[in-house]
Amino acid sequence: MNDRFNNQLHNDVCEGLRKTNKSLPCKYFYDELGSEIFDKICLLEEYYPTRTEISILENNIENIQKYLINNLSIFEFGAGSVKKIKILLDNLSIKNYIPIDISFEYLKHHSKILSKSYKHININPLYGDFTDSLTNQNIPINNYINRIGFFPGSTIGNFEPSVVSKLLKNFGNFLGKNSKLIIGIDLIKNKKTLLNAYNDKEGLTAKFNLNILSRLNRELNANFNIKFYKHTAIYNELLNRIEMHIISLKNQSVYIDNEKFYFREKEIIHTENSYKYSLDGFIKLVKNSGFTTLDSWTDDNRFFSILLLNYDL
Ligand code: AVJ
Repeated sequence: MNDRFNNQLHNDVCEGLRKTNKSLPCKYFYDELGSEIFDKICLLEEYYPTRTEISILENNIENIQKYLINNLSIFEFGAGSVKKIKILLDNLSIKNYIPIDISFEYLKHHSKILSKSYKHININPLYGDFTDSLTNQNIPINNYINRIGFFPGSTIGNFEPSVVSKLLKNFGNFLGKNSKLIIGIDLIKNKKTLLNAYNDKEGLTAKFNLNILSRLNRELNANFNIKFYKHTAIYNELLNRIEMHIISLKNQSVYIDNEKFYFREKEIIHTENSYKYSLDGFIKLVKNSGFTTLDSWTDDNRFFSILLLNYDL
């Protein structure tokens, strides 16, 4: 598994760095250290999404529950915050909980914490990449009845709007007809709030962003000198997305295996997009995925929204 994964990492990274406009896939932020830093970001005053989504879930869990039956099997795409899944585990009738993630160490850690307090629930972590087709990853889907998907955190915002329908359809095909999906999206809001959330004072987001280069040093034997790179996040108002960049502070080069990559002074490596949606805009994308929107909830500031979808196909 690890060899294959490393190869994939190597291919994806080199492909991204060979381009004229260099980029790295944001899914590689989440090695052990990256996942730890991300957990700390979620506690920052500036980073409103996590606490806002938690409050929406807490305030509306009874409404959500009304749409669902008993003995559910919950599939979480990306093993995220323990706090969020606990709200579901505490309030819904759940038989099986199956978190799926490519960060296996984190996944095991996450599942271990939960299994201590939820002995009556079958917790079954699976190593898998939800950005690929889920139906051919040897997941014994038929062992699980009453399937629902959980995709919180506005992780969907990392994907291009043009592939959102396809990704949702993937989830739907995997979960099956009449399965439900609980999904969180970050809403369009004032620019200052958005920018502060990705440029925190403590510099944790900077650390998170630059950790991807340290990871390449660790796992691919690259030789990035981290102090000559800098984090920035901008808001692209035309496309309604936060863009995270790593900027090269000087002309420099890096080796990955035998391949040499050049970075000009001020050259950008684009590391992440985080799309923000209007509720209506997102519901339109949902319509093309085979899901219908059963309901949606938001907070008083209208900063974030949780939608409950039904797969009709
Ligand atoms: C986990 C993808 C939802 O886009 O807000 C946080 C990742 N990046 N700070 C987001 C992230 C920088 C986060 N998501």
